[in-house]
Amino acid sequence: EKGGYDYFMLKEIAEQPKAVADTLLGRIDAAGSLTLDEVRISPSELREVDKVVIVACGTAFHAGLIAKYAIEHWTRIPCEVELASEFRYRDPILDGRSLVIAISQSGETMDTLMALRHAREQGSKVLAICNTNGSTIPRESDAVLYTHAGPEVAVASTKAFLTQLVACYLVALYLGQVRGTKWGDEIRAVIRDLSQISGEVERVLDTMEPVRALARSLADKNTVLFLGRHVGYPVALEGALKLKELAYMHAEGFAAGELKHGPIALIEEDVPVVVVVPSPRGRSVLHDKIVSNIQEIRARGARTIVIAEEGDEAVVPYADHLIWIPATPTLLQPMVATVPLQVFACELATARGNEVDQPRNLAKSVTVE
Ligand code: M6R
Repeated sequence: EKGGYDYFMLKEIAEQPKAVADTLLGRIDAAGSLTLDEVRISPSELREVDKVVIVACGTAFHAGLIAKYAIEHWTRIPCEVELASEFRYRDPILDGRSLVIAISQSGETMDTLMALRHAREQGSKVLAICNTNGSTIPRESDAVLYTHAGPEVAVASTKAFLTQLVACYLVALYLGQVRGTKWGDEIRAVIRDLSQISGEVERVLDTMEPVRALARSLADKNTVLFLGRHVGYPVALEGALKLKELAYMHAEGFAAGELKHGPIALIEEDVPVVVVVPSPRGRSVLHDKIVSNIQEIRARGARTIVIAEEGDEAVVPYADHLIWIPATPTLLQPMVATVPLQVFACELATARGNEVDQPRNLAKSVTVE
């Protein structure tokens, strides 16, 4: 049932292009517009929304962090993202015009379920993004957008994450579409790019051998740091989470702009630092800033592992290891930038002799608070 792979995680990483394509299936019409009729919240209700609040845990929370960038950019609706386990304990401000999005692969995570119950008690509509048909979270929500990743067995979430991102982009673009923001042309262009993205994920998967070799060479390290900016920041957090749960290594993700506010003190000789570089097109200011971060940490002896867009020559002189990813629109970059980090963590776990599919102390779905 592992389809010839040693671990479910490897199989699930490989299934990502299909999972992504399946999640888009039937949701883009022939004219290139989104059709999310299945989301039983009407366009007029969606036009009333004045705030979006996303609640989720772990990897699903990271998908939510990325969704915030997309939602605020394409819809101009303020969006907050909160760990579901914190949400209801701080008396959040919610009402009938708040749209709460609960993201959960399993649909059974107790923290997320309690957060959505709290939101509904305040009169907010809840939209679930979920991978498991008929599970509790979608059953208790006002509406659901299913991800079509298929069953995810490995405890470490991979294909569910990529499909959660797709679902978040769909919701953001759809909200933008029904509300008619000034980004109409961009929204149409991104919908086109989104329909190509599964092929790009496939291309990344085809180039992973050097990433595996690199991971094996780092098996005796104690710490790996991850840096990113903008949507690359949640990608850095996700890379660090994968490494913690699979390799049992100390791993931390930082927003690169925070380095000088503390974390740069952690940089010492030979510590591996993975840097997710934004596209040199689009938000080029951020690109240039992160290139100077890479220079700074390398000057202090860090071993730099740079994930950058193909053709980004500016990073080459400062990278000890380069991982190229295809060019995508800025907001879609996490779709391709996360994949090498999944492969990296999985290979490190194997090299350290850890149980890949069933890491110690963890359960696939966390049904206690
Ligand atoms: O089933 P859920 O998406 O609600 O699960 C949330 C987290 O428990 C989950 O993403 C966890 O962080 C994964 N093990 C990460 O790989």
